[in-house]
Amino acid sequence: MSLLKLDRVTKRFGGLLAVDHVSLEIEAGELIAIVGPNGAGKTTLFNIMSGVFIPDEGRVIFEGRDISRLPPYKRAPLGIGRTFQIPRPFSSATVRENIAIGAMFGTLGKKVSVDESLKIADRYIDMVGLQLHRGKAAGSLTPVEKKMMEIARALAMNPKLLLMDEAMAGMNPKDIDHMVAFLMRIKDEEKISVIAMVEHIMRAVAGLAERVMVMHQGAKLVDAATTEALSDPRVVEVYFGGAPKEFKKNWKKTNGPESDKGTA
Ligand SMILES: Nc1ncnc2c1ncn2[C@@H]1O[C@H](COP(=O)(O)OP(=O)(O)OP(=O)(O)O)[C@@H](O)[C@H]1O
Ligand SMILES: [Mg+2]
Repeated sequence: MSLLKLDRVTKRFGGLLAVDHVSLEIEAGELIAIVGPNGAGKTTLFNIMSGVFIPDEGRVIFEGRDISRLPPYKRAPLGIGRTFQIPRPFSSATVRENIAIGAMFGTLGKKVSVDESLKIADRYIDMVGLQLHRGKAAGSLTPVEKKMMEIARALAMNPKLLLMDEAMAGMNPKDIDHMVAFLMRIKDEEKISVIAMVEHIMRAVAGLAERVMVMHQGAKLVDAATTEALSDPRVVEVYFGGAPKEFKKNWKKTNGPESDKGTA
């Protein structure tokens, strides 16, 4: 049984089809990336998975159960944790408190006291390296530190399914490589069943994901093993439709099946 199954989910904003009958099955153990040009519908799809949006059509099945109509606070305890593309911390609360909130809402439905949640927060603060910022107001963090706090908060939810929406945006290549190694390690250590990430940074996609779904104009364009997906002519076309031939060829060379996967 797949951990998460999307069955032809659709979301409209007025006349705009933001997500267009997308079906997707993710098995336990998978690391999957969702990519696509700006406005392709990636964040909207994540919002359908996490419960921010109820799909207009289609169903969301988690561990065999139809959760299509559950709000986010009822999905979190089932094991669905996420980061936000644009971090929205409680700015005047401390880093520690912000992360503790994750523990209170997630942790697979266990009741967690305030003290316990703060202890859990400390553990993840250490894990993501925010020790020096523990007691600072979240609003005072740099954008990259806010992303790290987002990740710590999502981890504190003890997710089975971790949804990361552009968590590595703004990071330099060295930080990205660290983050990729970190996520590989904690996936096992924290018993996270699936990491699904929306990511524009191909270095991170190639380094982490085994499978890639490419979205375009709300629909699923390609769903394949990473190197295959990234070198698919249709994918090259939606990303670089207007780009010179030479550029497309280079992209294929560096992302194609024969290359090592080190493209930024
Ligand atoms: N709350 C909303 N109300 C109206 N339209 C929306 C809303 N959220 C998203 N859209 C529209 O839906 C489409 C898909 O947006 P979405 O944010 O899912 O794209 P994305 O793939 O995450 O893009 P990006 O890579 O820029 O983050 C876009 O055309 C966007 O303008
Ligand atoms: Mg987005």
